[in-house]
Amino acid sequence: MVKISPSILSADFSKLGEEIKNVDKAGADFIHIDVMDGNFVPNISIGLPVIKSIRNKTDKVFDVHLMIENPSRYIDEFVEAGADIITIHYEAEKHIDRAIDYIKSKGVKAGVSLNPGTPSIVLKDIIEKLDLVLIMSVNPGFGGQKFIPYSINKIKEVKEMSLNVNKDLLIEVDGGVDKNNSKAIVEAGANVLVAGSAIFGDGKLKENIEAIRG
Ligand code: DX5
Ligand code: ZN
Repeated sequence: MVKISPSILSADFSKLGEEIKNVDKAGADFIHIDVMDGNFVPNISIGLPVIKSIRNKTDKVFDVHLMIENPSRYIDEFVEAGADIITIHYEAEKHIDRAIDYIKSKGVKAGVSLNPGTPSIVLKDIIEKLDLVLIMSVNPGFGGQKFIPYSINKIKEVKEMSLNVNKDLLIEVDGGVDKNNSKAIVEAGANVLVAGSAIFGDGKLKENIEAIRG
């Protein structure tokens, strides 16, 4: 069954602990945590102390999406803060192969994310060693943007590429996911859906998670 990873970027930060507990109860599989450095992306979000402070609010998998330049500098710290999956951007890391190995050596799952403008072919050599591929279906930096339709093809390509070499690969899609497009995204091959505004927007967490799961 498809996994749902609510993005806390759209949660109410003034009561983040409570929001996490509620989204856990509402049926979230993972908790998606967006870290932005104001450099790789135009926005600045949350970092290590916040992740540490929410770690004891849930046992769910912390799915940490690093939108930061040279992410390999901070792997140790994110592991220590409580990340279970660390996803770095292909575009932000010069030595992607080494960075993946390093993340895995720390006993956490390793993911690589592609911006909308980055073609899937760059994953060809590394896909077999990845735990997760995160396909950005909006340009990263902000919640509440519109799903870019050509992302569907990219999901299909990644699925196809993974078939013979990595059948357990998590294929995650992030950006503009809602109850109207989730079915097509899953049919294309995704097995983890991130959603921020479509889950936290109106506060009906359980209903929204179920609607997106389909
Ligand atoms: C965007 C983030 C997303 C974002 C998704 O840069 O990576 O995780 O929170 O938000 P929605 O679901 O509102 O597009
Ligand atoms: Zn994200």
